[in-house]
Amino acid sequence: MIPESFIQELLSRVDIVDVVERYVPLRKAGANYSACCPFHSEKTPSFTVSASKQFYHCFGCGAHGSAISFVMQYAGLGFIDAVEELASNMGMTVPRDAPERHAESAAKKAPLTELMARATKFYRDQLKQSPKAIDYLKGRGLSGEIASRFGMGYAPDDWQGLQQVFPNYDDQALAECGLIIVNEQGRRYDRFRDRIMFPILDQRGNVIGFGGRVIGDGEPKYLNSPETPIFEKGRELYGLSQARKSIHDADTVIVVEGYMDVVGLAQLGVENVVASLGTATTGMHVQKLLKQANRVIFCFDRDSAGDRAARRAMENSLEHLVDGKSVEILQMPGNQDPDEFIRENGKEDFQRLVGNATRLSEYLVREIRKDISLTNAEGRAQLVQEAKPLLQKVAAPVLRVQLTKEIATLAQLSQAEVEAQCGLKPLARGRPAFAPRGRVTTRPLEHTLLQVILQRPEWAVRIPLERLAEDQEETQALSVIANMVEHGQPVGGAGQMLETFRGQPCETIVAQVLSELTLEEPDLATLELVLTDAIERLRVRSVKSEIDARKKDLSPEEWRELLARKTAKTSAPE
Ligand code: GTP
Ligand code: MN
Repeated sequence: MIPESFIQELLSRVDIVDVVERYVPLRKAGANYSACCPFHSEKTPSFTVSASKQFYHCFGCGAHGSAISFVMQYAGLGFIDAVEELASNMGMTVPRDAPERHAESAAKKAPLTELMARATKFYRDQLKQSPKAIDYLKGRGLSGEIASRFGMGYAPDDWQGLQQVFPNYDDQALAECGLIIVNEQGRRYDRFRDRIMFPILDQRGNVIGFGGRVIGDGEPKYLNSPETPIFEKGRELYGLSQARKSIHDADTVIVVEGYMDVVGLAQLGVENVVASLGTATTGMHVQKLLKQANRVIFCFDRDSAGDRAARRAMENSLEHLVDGKSVEILQMPGNQDPDEFIRENGKEDFQRLVGNATRLSEYLVREIRKDISLTNAEGRAQLVQEAKPLLQKVAAPVLRVQLTKEIATLAQLSQAEVEAQCGLKPLARGRPAFAPRGRVTTRPLEHTLLQVILQRPEWAVRIPLERLAEDQEETQALSVIANMVEHGQPVGGAGQMLETFRGQPCETIVAQVLSELTLEEPDLATLELVLTDAIERLRVRSVKSEIDARKKDLSPEEWRELLARKTAKTSAPE
């Protein structure tokens, strides 16, 4: 756990304009800065950064948040990593007030990554001294420059090779990070021997694991690091760290199956490529990748394993699909994998394949109708049954409608019939990216109040909290803010506010309201009017509901008294 006070301190020191500018060139536009949004493709800039609010917002795709969210979203980092990244840029150290467990695991991780770094250097040095390993890589068309970009190395043919750089070879940590194996007799030896080494990096460029390939033929062809405290296979992608810039430039990421595909494609100039470490594509991969680019292309070898993997990738992607983003499947022609294909046919041909990849929706339809005859009623009914579990997973509203329509046409049903058959509930329409100012809404008063308070938190103490509806999400946020203000806690601008609420139940509503607000500085007089009006309407609303509740058993005097209260003007706030 990072103490909340540190987060606030950090946010008060960093300037979001500097942070964003490090990644995205900004242009001054009035009081704010603007740019083409790094989170979706666009030609005219709708991404705005406000220095006064320390908040960014894209009017096109709705992305928004603080400096921390920006780093999380842009670099694909988790919260803690993003905080650490920002803090280290500011020369600040992240304190840990942590439950022991965290402190312990952080302390544990640091030495493990150091060991991995030392091992990486050792393997790289060994590669330089091994004509056999160099020849192998040359034979596969790889240059020294590419080998070096990927930090490739060679683990010598030696049971205790690592002893050269780890004099304390008995160190338990060496086993813990998977570099050495301790057998039942307690004998220790190097896990990787006589193999080409592919270091696997995390988002920050630390080596967290290795893949090791035999030179030539042999079993197993690849040996990977085991799962360790620093290496969780289902999460990581090989090559992401090296590919990040070109993924961003191309707004496309290509996902392949093998280490060799990543380096082989990079060798021939296709650099926006990552590999999924021999595990199946998980939802987490899809989520991570869709943060990096608007277009994600999964490449699969054309064999039965590859076909199954493609189907699983499709199934795991459905729930992460977002309208406006594209997930595609590329099934390699012939029996070639991407590395073999590009070496034989060149970069252009490979790019052409990528350009012609199949959209996930098309692939889905093709998959389900594959073994079905649509010329009879039974077949058409079966089609709908096959489609059902898949359609249910699709979370992107527009795409789901399109798919449903397509299935309906094939099944000779109406869209509504397919929706009913598949038990598709209407999806909440995507939150409008931006609610234009002045639009008439029937939002509850609590919402209006929160809009005002997020701009002028110090006014929160003026709100009669007891009159707010308990079941409104906004109420909770308002209470928290009022409480902070009352206790003299700094509340800060929009960016800080978002961090205050991160992980709390009212985070969503706060983020939503913040992104509805224009980034222009509010006109104080207008805000004041909105607030007093809302407080007045709140009073009327609560009297009204009291009347409704007591209608039946009121005496005439009580009636009169209540009605008088309803029309009375609010007294000025103390
Ligand atoms: P080359 O055969 O050298 O071109 O490598 P490749 O990357 O094309 O290998 P392949 O297509 O056979 O396998 C794809 C990926 O699956 C590899 O990069 C590994 O991550 C994984 N893999 C392949 N063989 C093994 C194995 O024997 N053991 C393990 N653990 N993983 C493997
Ligand atoms: Mn290969």
